[in-house]
Amino acid sequence: MNPIKHVAIIMDGNGRWGEKYKNSRNAGHKAGVNTVEIVMNESIKKKIQYLTLYAFSTENWKRPKKEITFLFTLLENFLIKKIDQLIKGGIKIRFIGNLKILPKKLQKTMKMAEKKTSINNKLEVNIALNYGSKSEIINAIKVINKNQKKITEKNIEDNLYTKNIPNPDILIRTGNTQRLSNFLLWQLAYTEIFFEKKLWPDFNKKDFKNFLNKFKSLKRNFGLI
Ligand code: FPP
Repeated sequence: MNPIKHVAIIMDGNGRWGEKYKNSRNAGHKAGVNTVEIVMNESIKKKIQYLTLYAFSTENWKRPKKEITFLFTLLENFLIKKIDQLIKGGIKIRFIGNLKILPKKLQKTMKMAEKKTSINNKLEVNIALNYGSKSEIINAIKVINKNQKKITEKNIEDNLYTKNIPNPDILIRTGNTQRLSNFLLWQLAYTEIFFEKKLWPDFNKKDFKNFLNKFKSLKRNFGLI
């Protein structure tokens, strides 16, 4: 059986869900937070060590300002309201991406969450914010060049945001779209990818468990025979 250490998720379909059921894209983002909690809890139950969630891409800045502000506020409120629950649950929060240009108030809350959960070790939740994989790789290469090191796989990996995190075993993308959207392009080289038609707020515990079981039944040979 294949152990599952790391699950990455592109949580797509919030906007469509919100428009369909509540006539508001932002209502979809709010509903999406419930699914985040379901997936976090189930990951702990299944002894998954890392969960990486794509919450905001570098391309998402093209969205209306109102939606961007709503998303940042939603995340900030989640971190403030749920911090005790996260600590008790043994969840370690980490952020990956170009974080320096995010609103200062949000950055402060992010740092608080990282600090208060830093000693937890049941599940590490990496939240990708203002994340773009191509710029992550370019930055890694720039650092290697600056330090006059060789361009090797190891040196590139050591300079990605995901340094010391094993590559994802599984990528799930909800929302009936089959693309990677500049997410973890390097790290997903050997990852099993599952596309889900359901929109993220409709994705449930059973759907998540089904993908974990499908993965377990796969024979992974990494190019060997
Ligand atoms: C993609 O759906 C979703 C996002 C850009 C935001 C995801 C964010 C959350 C679920 C909240 C984050 C909170 C935590 C706690 C990590 P979309 O808006 O692109 O949907 P669409 O394709 O239907 O327009």
